[in-house]
Amino acid sequence: MNVLVVGGAGYIGSHCVRQLTAAGHRPVVIDNLVFGHRRAVAPDVPFYDVNLGDESAVGKILVDEKIDLVMHFAAYAYVGESVHDPLKYYFNNVVATLGLLRVMLAKGVKKFVFSSTCATYGIPEKMPLVETMPQSPINPYGQTKLDVENALKALALAHGLSFSAFRYFNAAGAAEDGAIGEDHDPETHLIPLAIDAATGKRPPLQVFGIDYPTPDGTCLRDYVHVDDLSRAHIAVFEKLEKPGTALFYNLGTGTPTSVREVINAVGKVTGKKVPYTEGPRRAGDPPALYADSSKAKNELGWKVKFDTIESIVETAWRWHSANPDGFGKRK
Ligand code: UFG
Repeated sequence: MNVLVVGGAGYIGSHCVRQLTAAGHRPVVIDNLVFGHRRAVAPDVPFYDVNLGDESAVGKILVDEKIDLVMHFAAYAYVGESVHDPLKYYFNNVVATLGLLRVMLAKGVKKFVFSSTCATYGIPEKMPLVETMPQSPINPYGQTKLDVENALKALALAHGLSFSAFRYFNAAGAAEDGAIGEDHDPETHLIPLAIDAATGKRPPLQVFGIDYPTPDGTCLRDYVHVDDLSRAHIAVFEKLEKPGTALFYNLGTGTPTSVREVINAVGKVTGKKVPYTEGPRRAGDPPALYADSSKAKNELGWKVKFDTIESIVETAWRWHSANPDGFGKRK
């Protein structure tokens, strides 16, 4: 299939582009390079430096490249920033996405794969999370993702759009061959910060809260390898053949891992001590978030290849040790 990957130069999008190529599809990337890296996309993949909200440019690409399906990864994803600057999140994550959907429908492209998030569940009452549990986001970031999920349902009914929304848990790791990896600016994610603390590139890690009601007092999260995530996006394609299909899947390994366990894994894999201090809780962090991904496993035949935190951290370490400055300059 000819697949337009919106945000294909970003962290998850760029890994998905490589998995698409490996699976015999033809990815085409659009990315405005605000957060993406040109170097994260192979030179032989068609690349357009375009905003997803630019309906006339996107419409032309849909037609010229004979696109069959669109994957959308181009959202802002800093929870804290979304609380302080909600309009930025509503305009990019909702308004621009609606523009993308409008031009897709106008051009007759009716298959869509959407990056959603476990942040749509808010602070869940029960764990692990299944797709049918109530969604009640506690920040604008999660709300914008839920708003798009709801718009997609309406478009499936009204216009026969077929879509799958994947609710990611904690995307982590890097390509197995070390070619691409995680390079955010600013970086807020635990694994790259712990690696950088271990190598001395950044100051000691601050552990956000040691008094949670969890076995070791730190938060539990479900770290899932970025290539495992990507493979689920491709496994869903055949289900989208039927017009009006509306699918939602959690994607996580189902294994809760604490902040301390991540620190230990980074220490073990890198062979270096991870310097850290114990600090107060970070606002808005739920104590535990982990997935029941049986639905993706049963319906898509999805299998997690990287099923331990060490195996995920190993791939991240391969990328970070070979690329201490990430991709370098953005353009
Ligand atoms: N953490 C620290 N110190 C740090 C950074 C993180 O202790 O310097 C802790 C956090 O408190 C959390 C865990 O490490 O318990 C993981 O934090 P990340 O920032 O790596 O990831 P989050 O779980 O906060 O965020 C993820 C996704 C978001 C999504 C969110 C939903 O990256 O996109 O889950 O809650 F919105």
